[in-house]
Amino acid sequence: VRRIWPEVADVPDVAAAVAAEARPAPPGRPWLAVNMVASVDGATAVGGASGPLGGDGDKAVFSALRAVADVVLAGAGTVRAEAYGPPRTPAARRAERRARGQAEVPRIAVVTRSLELDLGAPLFTEAELAPIVLTCAASDPRRRAATAEVAEVALAGDDAVEPARALAALGDLGATVVLAEGGPHLNGELVAAGLVDEWCTTVAPLLAAGASDRAAVGREPAVPQQMRLDRLFEHDGELLARYLRR
Ligand SMILES: NC(=O)c1ccc[n+]([C@@H]2O[C@H](COP(=O)([O-])OP(=O)(O)OC[C@H]3O[C@@H](n4cnc5c(N)ncnc54)[C@H](OP(=O)(O)O)[C@@H]3O)[C@@H](O)[C@H]2O)c1
Repeated sequence: VRRIWPEVADVPDVAAAVAAEARPAPPGRPWLAVNMVASVDGATAVGGASGPLGGDGDKAVFSALRAVADVVLAGAGTVRAEAYGPPRTPAARRAERRARGQAEVPRIAVVTRSLELDLGAPLFTEAELAPIVLTCAASDPRRRAATAEVAEVALAGDDAVEPARALAALGDLGATVVLAEGGPHLNGELVAAGLVDEWCTTVAPLLAAGASDRAAVGREPAVPQQMRLDRLFEHDGELLARYLRR
């Protein structure tokens, strides 16, 4: 992996480079980073999943970002489409996390109104830290009770999960860095709520066409949020950009 902006340099250790980036929690809530991979022509899924889009550079940044996150946040659509499992955190990352005062592994948080989650899946049965399920008061109380057997359930809204309340709830559970991994509908709500501090995007050197959503969809914010390029890595034709709120 090479850094190509702001200066050209080899990046021998992507995890260390990403961990060295500042992610200060704003007042009253955790820092919110989003990480997505998309093809050159904007596809965010191939055959319904993002796996075919990511090369080695993307995998390195994906893991490096997970390594600094207290919570990995995902929409239920992504959890269902990608068969999300518990995070696999190698020993070196665990030690670094301990040294920073973090839990050894990030906790997964899922946003859902329907609570249509496979509670027998490894995400729940093999998790080192029980996942957090962020839902709203309008969700089915029986499903909520069943979910609470295997996860920590938090209410963060009435008819729907309100992103600001969800983020505050994660802060109350001790998170200072939250990493959202999509999908496009959840991202759209985070963008519309003006909560995104950092947007990481991998441009994969592929043309994929298809009908997948672009990286964020839904309600338009009153004005597009201004971002500035913080760094750009390159690996084997993949571009790995980090944008910060201007
Ligand atoms: N390229 C990438 O980096 C990347 C990353 C992630 C995902 N993806 C792809 O994106 C696709 C899935 O994305 P998606 O946009 O369809 O789904 P998504 O954003 O992951 O999840 C949407 C679901 O999240 C829940 N949700 C979102 N906002 C909510 C709110 N305010 N209140 C309550 N629930 C809320 C709802 O779950 P319920 O239906 O359970 O109520 C909703 O149906 C898949 O194809 C996946 O492979 C790509």
